Amino acid sequence: MKIKDSTALVTGANRGIGKAYVEALIKRGAKKVYAAMRDVEAFKTSSPDCVEKYKDVLELIPLDITHEGQVASAVKGDVELLINNAGIANFTGLIAGETLSSARQEMEVNYFGTLSMIRAFAPVLKENGGGAIANVLSVASLANFPVLGSYSASKAALYSLTQGVRAELAHQGTHVLGVYPGPIDTDMAKDFPMEKSSPEETANGTLQAIEEGQEDIFIDIFAIQFQKDFQNSPIGIAKQFAEMLPESVS
Ligand SMILES: NC(=O)c1ccc[n+]([C@@H]2O[C@H](COP(=O)([O-])OP(=O)(O)OC[C@H]3O[C@@H](n4cnc5c(N)ncnc54)[C@H](OP(=O)(O)O)[C@@H]3O)[C@@H](O)[C@H]2O)c1
Repeated sequence: MKIKDSTALVTGANRGIGKAYVEALIKRGAKKVYAAMRDVEAFKTSSPDCVEKYKDVLELIPLDITHEGQVASAVKGDVELLINNAGIANFTGLIAGETLSSARQEMEVNYFGTLSMIRAFAPVLKENGGGAIANVLSVASLANFPVLGSYSASKAALYSLTQGVRAELAHQGTHVLGVYPGPIDTDMAKDFPMEKSSPEETANGTLQAIEEGQEDIFIDIFAIQFQKDFQNSPIGIAKQFAEMLPESVS
């Protein structure tokens, strides 16, 4: 599909990669962008310039993707492109921790929240000719990062979901894209002592891949190398990540 003159909805649009998606969509000529976020009023206060500059194209909508009522209210009949960007990382391992609450929360947002959005929007996309869904996964979807053990598991669930909905929605012509970033320079990765790529690179690469009809994309320099290493040896790369286990977890 073409981004120019399209209508898109982005989750977690108030900051990080989500905000970069909104700006990239508008720069590429999207007709309308629904920027979905948990706290619309806070965004209006923190980003008045953005709200004013894009007022003809942008509509802010309140949305916590784990809240079924809010997901239902967020369904807009003109959406052709759904970007499932919202996500959380609690930086917890799988074993340490008194309860399962952190792991459950990651699964609730990253997996069930995204699934809930896709189920809500699939009929709209069908009605609008098929359209596209982009799910923001992670290289950690494919190999567990022990520093983010339970996050990796939730993103692995999202990987399977992405394959499943791609098959289930093929008959209605919906293009399902998986995005697998490495470390990106946002709040989520602020305590990660690694080289990071820009959110703008992820956003622009995703939109280009949507236009080209690609399915799984590795955009930043870390992700591109990861993909090569993963194809050579999935076990090898999991072992490499295991060596990055922090003292707090081991
Ligand atoms: N940064 C990286 O290194 C990296 C690497 C690979 C993949 N990713 C993925 O990229 C996506 C965007 O992350 P980011 O780096 O931009 O992180 P971020 O700066 O922490 O932003 C996360 C966004 O998700 C939103 N969000 C969290 N829980 C939500 C919920 N229940 N309902 C709706 N929105 C919710 C946040 O909203 P609030 O502002 O209200 O909290 C925020 O807008 C995530 O899916 C993440 O897993 C990031």
